Amino acid sequence: MCGIIGYIGARQATPLLIGGLRKLEYRGYDSAGVSVLDPALGGPSRVVRCRGKLGNLEEKLKAEPAHGTVGIGHTRWATHGRPSDENSHPHKVGPISVIHNGIIENHLQLRQELVASGSHFSSETDTEIFAHLVERQIVDGAENLTVAVRKALAKVRGSYAFVVMSDKEPGTLVAAKNSSPLVIGLGEGENFIASDVTAILAETRKVIFIEEGEMVTVTKDKVEITDLEGKPKQREPKIITWSATQAEKGGFKHYMLKEIHEQPRAVADTLVGRVDLENDDVNLDGVNLDVKNIKRIVFIACGTSYHASMVGEFLVEALARIPVEVDLASEFRYRDPIVGPGDLVVAVSQSGETLDTMEAIREAKKKGAQVFAISNVIEASIPRLADHAFYTHAGPEIGVASTKAFTTQLVAMTLLAIHLGRRTGALSRERARVLLNELVQLPNKMKEVTDQGAHLQVLARRYGGAHGFLFLGRGSQYPIALEGALKLKEISYIHAEGYAAGEMKHGPIALIDDQLPVVVLVPTGPSYEKTVSNLAEVRARQGKVLAVATRGDHDIGGHSDDVVLVPETALELQPILTVLPLQMLSYYVADQRGTDVDQPRNLAKSVTVE
Ligand code: G6P
Repeated sequence: MCGIIGYIGARQATPLLIGGLRKLEYRGYDSAGVSVLDPALGGPSRVVRCRGKLGNLEEKLKAEPAHGTVGIGHTRWATHGRPSDENSHPHKVGPISVIHNGIIENHLQLRQELVASGSHFSSETDTEIFAHLVERQIVDGAENLTVAVRKALAKVRGSYAFVVMSDKEPGTLVAAKNSSPLVIGLGEGENFIASDVTAILAETRKVIFIEEGEMVTVTKDKVEITDLEGKPKQREPKIITWSATQAEKGGFKHYMLKEIHEQPRAVADTLVGRVDLENDDVNLDGVNLDVKNIKRIVFIACGTSYHASMVGEFLVEALARIPVEVDLASEFRYRDPIVGPGDLVVAVSQSGETLDTMEAIREAKKKGAQVFAISNVIEASIPRLADHAFYTHAGPEIGVASTKAFTTQLVAMTLLAIHLGRRTGALSRERARVLLNELVQLPNKMKEVTDQGAHLQVLARRYGGAHGFLFLGRGSQYPIALEGALKLKEISYIHAEGYAAGEMKHGPIALIDDQLPVVVLVPTGPSYEKTVSNLAEVRARQGKVLAVATRGDHDIGGHSDDVVLVPETALELQPILTVLPLQMLSYYVADQRGTDVDQPRNLAKSVTVE
């Protein structure tokens, strides 16, 4: 979610690091920094870092230039610790400078241990822990930086790409990777390290991709890859033929497609540190809600976040048995809402900046309600305005049509509902255990769906010429039908409606003919048979049915024209899987029509007007 760059060679590092960070800014932009040293002088590295966009760092570097031919740089998208100068990377402890992308899962425990044995922390980040761990290894006599990093890594759990530099070993950079991308760029008498090839393409196209559980020691002339035990690994360099823009999109044609495929990783990041499998419970980042005194929950949101909130209603009512209302933020404050003490208002917003939602929060707070914000952007206006904030950690979303921000909101809703349910007593420990185990397995199951691109592309060709679409679902699939219709409208400009399947007979059935594709969400569950009946009503009128069903459902093929199958999961989690083919269908339809998928006409990613 952050951008990483390192350089070691004969040229001045700072301009190269800044050039790389400029290319990585799309990955994170709330703070940036560099640590640069001059091996000839052997002195300590100079760390320059600050909150805000890269431009702020460039300004700061004018006043405090960092000279030297070895350096590391970082652009941050906050996960642990708000965006601030102190929380910006690199983090320096003694001679050790560290930059990090990812999340250290056992950060609380490690921090406690380090503090207990005398370490002083100067930031709220999980990353600083790693700088302390490496420094301890040096103090304890590790023979070199590589060994110190290897020993420190043995203590860390989580997803990471680290790059470490030491004032005591100025000719070496050491990096390690687990679940976060890392690539080495090879030059003549110089080498680069980056989280993303984009950052180094201007300098070299000869690269080595580092794989899971590998470390790499880089000098200006040598690159040595090992596993985490120190066993050497051989890897041939590759030549990158992508253009710089293609590389920024990870080789995908559009950011939206990249973000669709990032969803398994994004959901895994939302779960990190929150799922407590030992106690069959959910930790809401230390937020202590007075659950026994919550009489009602009111979700407020706009657009896609509103659809996530509708799923939230289903989840909270089912798992916690607390009454729920869902309101459009733009409507909420204009009808003198009855809200006050005893209500928990949950404000949901991927950007954390939507003005309608902010105004609704102000209204709710004025009337005495507690506000809990679910946001993807740390320290955005909405989480700052709320009493409590919970972050989805999906990483920056560039495509205007929300995908990974939505699925991670659904995960956040599930975590909230389980947390509440365990405290109201409505959710048994056994059921919580089942749900939490299913949640942990979700990323793999999501990948099974996003791997079906070729099939969805065929379906997009088959149905993409239609003038309109209808999406149907029942229960928690109803908001997914709404979301499927919204996605299609937003990026392909085809009119689409989402409807509760049982309502079809009260109106939209009049639209059905052989020209209208109807996407029916029909996973196994209590509404299955009723939905199959609705689907039969569509077919009886020559409507074309595309069913999204559960793998193992051998009957559905007989009731529909086409089927997309998703893996089995708990009923409560099905929306997180069934929305994926709808996102992909919309994407491929739009792409075939040649629309501007990432920046559809008239839409904006963050809407700060009422
Ligand atoms: C805009 C975006 C939508 C988004 C909505 C709410 O209209 O184009 O994708 O769903 O705002 O945004 P929020 O950031 O509050 O979730």
